[in-house]
Amino acid sequence: MKLDVKNIRYLSRDDWRVLTATEQGSRNHEIVPTPLIASLAALGGGGVPKSISALAKTNLIARVKNARYDGYRLTYGGLDYLALHTHTKAGTVYSVGNQIGVGKESDIFVCAAPETGRQLVLKIHRLGRISFRTVKANRDYLRNRAGGSWMYMSRLAAMKEFEFMKALRREGFPVPEPVGQSRHTVVMSLVDAFPLRQISRVGEPAALYGELMGLIVRLARYGLIHGDFNEFNILVEEKMDADDEDGPITLIPTLIDFPQMVSIDHVNADFYFDRDVTCIKRYFSRRFGFTADEPGPFFKDSTKKLIKRLDVEVEASGFSRKMAKTLEAYMKEHGVDGDAGEAERSDDDDADDAGENETGEGEGQDAQGHHHASEPLSPTPNPPTATTALTPAALASQMTILDIRDTDPLPDLSDMKPLPTSTAPPPSIISTTTTTKSAKAKAGWSI
Ligand SMILES: Nc1ncnc2c1ncn2[C@@H]1O[C@H](COP(=O)(O)OP(=O)(O)OP(=O)(O)O)[C@@H](O)[C@H]1O
Ligand SMILES: [Mg+2]
Repeated sequence: MKLDVKNIRYLSRDDWRVLTATEQGSRNHEIVPTPLIASLAALGGGGVPKSISALAKTNLIARVKNARYDGYRLTYGGLDYLALHTHTKAGTVYSVGNQIGVGKESDIFVCAAPETGRQLVLKIHRLGRISFRTVKANRDYLRNRAGGSWMYMSRLAAMKEFEFMKALRREGFPVPEPVGQSRHTVVMSLVDAFPLRQISRVGEPAALYGELMGLIVRLARYGLIHGDFNEFNILVEEKMDADDEDGPITLIPTLIDFPQMVSIDHVNADFYFDRDVTCIKRYFSRRFGFTADEPGPFFKDSTKKLIKRLDVEVEASGFSRKMAKTLEAYMKEHGVDGDAGEAERSDDDDADDAGENETGEGEGQDAQGHHHASEPLSPTPNPPTATTALTPAALASQMTILDIRDTDPLPDLSDMKPLPTSTAPPPSIISTTTTTKSAKAKAGWSI
């Protein structure tokens, strides 16, 4: 979905109040009744209808007539603007530029920080847009959970990503630097590198292979499994020795994309661990003709000696057990399975997923193909090389400044929940691990 920020500068203070009121009303109304918007916005005079029509014209809210009343719902565009407002007022983002990634569940843009102009990445989570058909097929699900569910689930994905990125970064893992999070968006440092998928030659595959397997094992020793550890989610920077141009190129991997991360206590932990390992093995074999002469690594060995429990730390830090369960249930229900399944599909049968780009939004999102669609299918004779394609930093031209007229901070809606559900996910089985008993008791669960 496009992120069109050009209208953001034209929104008046009243427009922002009405947009915020619509967001607030979405807490307990799938369609927010017009009088409720008016009362939440609490504008003197007759400003509300004018703002409503301005917001509807730019597709930030959408008019919906249901059987009982007329009202409006917030669109993804409206939610994007609210998040950008917060990032701007927090001094995190100053301008937004090109889109550098289109995922099934997210859009990635370059953006820049105020003053320093430092290039950053804005990841906008968009859960629910691809599998709208599935949602439609399950009316009960829709009825029970739809009250802002795409909004809530996308926010959970962003929160989860941000919390894990913070914890991993703190422990020195090679991940982007987390900079900010608001609603369904995460701001992080821009890694000027390409996904492994686009790297055609790696010189010594064994070295990179060893490093990646080492990373999987180290994550497990910190209580975590990435869950989508594959050639799309590993960015590889090529570093040349400045004094020796013909010398060996060092490859520096950075791990991204964390919404599907699981704890080593997850009931299917060994499955996810093995899947991550297998993904890398298969990719190295197909693309580089490299096969390790040792089996493994294995889940059991990797979790014998734990260093720390980041899974437990994260759950105690704001992304709660309940949130993790809710997000996991939603992702499962919607067939969200990260890039791993996508890689397999595109390798195997050239799947064209354009037809699946149905959306729940009525305002005509463009049916963009998945970002992998433009990438070579494996095996491929001529994958783009890192030297010929534009680097993410080079793409970061043409920034649009977020010249927001509103000076008030937006209300904090961080406790925003979807409508009460009648099909709450089942409570998880609390597992017992000796190493972190006290921490677990405090947080009371496993992710
Ligand atoms: N911090 C970053 N720096 C540079 N490029 C990035 C960064 N984050 C993401 N990208 C680019 O965007 C692409 C997609 O990012 P990411 O894997 O986080 O989302 P996604 O796969 O769309 O998410 P989802 O799994 O929810 O569909 C990456 O393959 C990478 O090319
Ligand atoms: Mg990804």
